Amino acid sequence: MTPARRSPRSASFLKPNARVARQQAKRVRSTDSAMCIACHIGLTMPLGQLALTAPRHLDGQPASEQSFVAARNHNNAGGWLHGVSGPSDRRYRYDPKELNMIDELLRPVTGPAAWRGEDLRSGDDWIYHLSDDERIELETVGARFLAEDPDLRFVQAEDYPLPITAAGLRVWEEAMEDKRGFILVRGLRSDLYSDALSAAIFFMLGLHIGDPMRQNELGDAFDHVRATTDKTVDDPTALGSRTTDKLGFHSDSSDVVALMCLRGSKSGGASILISGATIYNELLRRRPDLAPLLFEPWYWDWYKQDHDAPETTYVSPMACMVDGVFSIYAGSRMIRSAQDYPEVPRLTAAQLELLDELDAIFLTPGLPIEMDFRPGDMQWLLNYTALHSRTSYLDYQQPEKKRHLLRLWLKREGRPLVPGFGKNVVKGRAEDRDGAVPAEKTRFRISQICYPRYDWGKDAAY
Ligand SMILES: [Fe+2]
Repeated sequence: MTPARRSPRSASFLKPNARVARQQAKRVRSTDSAMCIACHIGLTMPLGQLALTAPRHLDGQPASEQSFVAARNHNNAGGWLHGVSGPSDRRYRYDPKELNMIDELLRPVTGPAAWRGEDLRSGDDWIYHLSDDERIELETVGARFLAEDPDLRFVQAEDYPLPITAAGLRVWEEAMEDKRGFILVRGLRSDLYSDALSAAIFFMLGLHIGDPMRQNELGDAFDHVRATTDKTVDDPTALGSRTTDKLGFHSDSSDVVALMCLRGSKSGGASILISGATIYNELLRRRPDLAPLLFEPWYWDWYKQDHDAPETTYVSPMACMVDGVFSIYAGSRMIRSAQDYPEVPRLTAAQLELLDELDAIFLTPGLPIEMDFRPGDMQWLLNYTALHSRTSYLDYQQPEKKRHLLRLWLKREGRPLVPGFGKNVVKGRAEDRDGAVPAEKTRFRISQICYPRYDWGKDAAY
């Protein structure tokens, strides 16, 4: 049972000095900045980049060098990042309760992005069924794309216009940006196509929705979600997408993540989504004292997501609120595993409590929605609105029947986010890596990339 707690919006919950500061803070836009109450030096700092930006006074004037240094030292020492691990001076201590002064931030998120799976399951308006005309256009233009086999680093959506499907594409985009954050598109007949044609159609649609990004050191614009290892997901040298194991809820490091099903499993392997806004609202209901921690920077394990990563970790908040738009980038596994590196500051008791609470929320019946993939199904998901996971599955023995999904990562402009939020580790599809990859290993054509790759990361990743 959730213990009774005082409302975070109750003024009496705050210490006197914090109550005054709260009133002052209302004079600035609390959606993108908050007073640095941990320091009590009367500064504002954009949430989610607290350690990166020079603070300003509440009237908008730049803070003095002395104040800036104090705040920077506080940040560098872990005041915002790591609770009470900062300097011993009380001014630099972190008190999560005091952060509840940001009450505009601590209101529940409303709107269609705050859905519950049990409500969505009662209907199917999250499924878009392609019309015959749309399907025929996609098959026809997709076949031309495959025949021309353009360089995937440079091909543009204008090269392959889709006038019939264009209205539907806007519906998908609206579903991601303004509604529940995802859509399942059904109606392609991938069981009748070559994998190359399915891949061509999928990539072409990706071009019309965003800008595909590279998904590994070799510059592949596709990844293959297919079990190619007997390793378990707990093995630090394994990639979850190469196992048959259940995957925990997480966000990918792109704006949009899209999956296309070429072949399903023998059993299991359902895709699961959970609304980020609902997670946040549930956290506010259960543990409002922990909710502000989401907006602080966290260390994420980079290496275990990408064995070619240039650093062991990267830093991103788990949530941000900019211009009234709530976004999430969350999941506990890669935060917990970042603790394997000695250079990463230790998680505080409060941070560990938050991770445990999030894991408990993920398991709450009625919140997630499960969906089975049929061949040709495409799931388009805006990472900032919902987390995704997968149940474990049983594969067929025959290689040609094994569960096989294609994955695209897309960049989309327009969503207000704090700088460096989540996606800062992913590169554009045409970004040069200074010849780091031998030319014979690169695959920039659909005819090449429609097949799983076995010549990269074999020891570590497969
Ligand atoms: Fe993922």
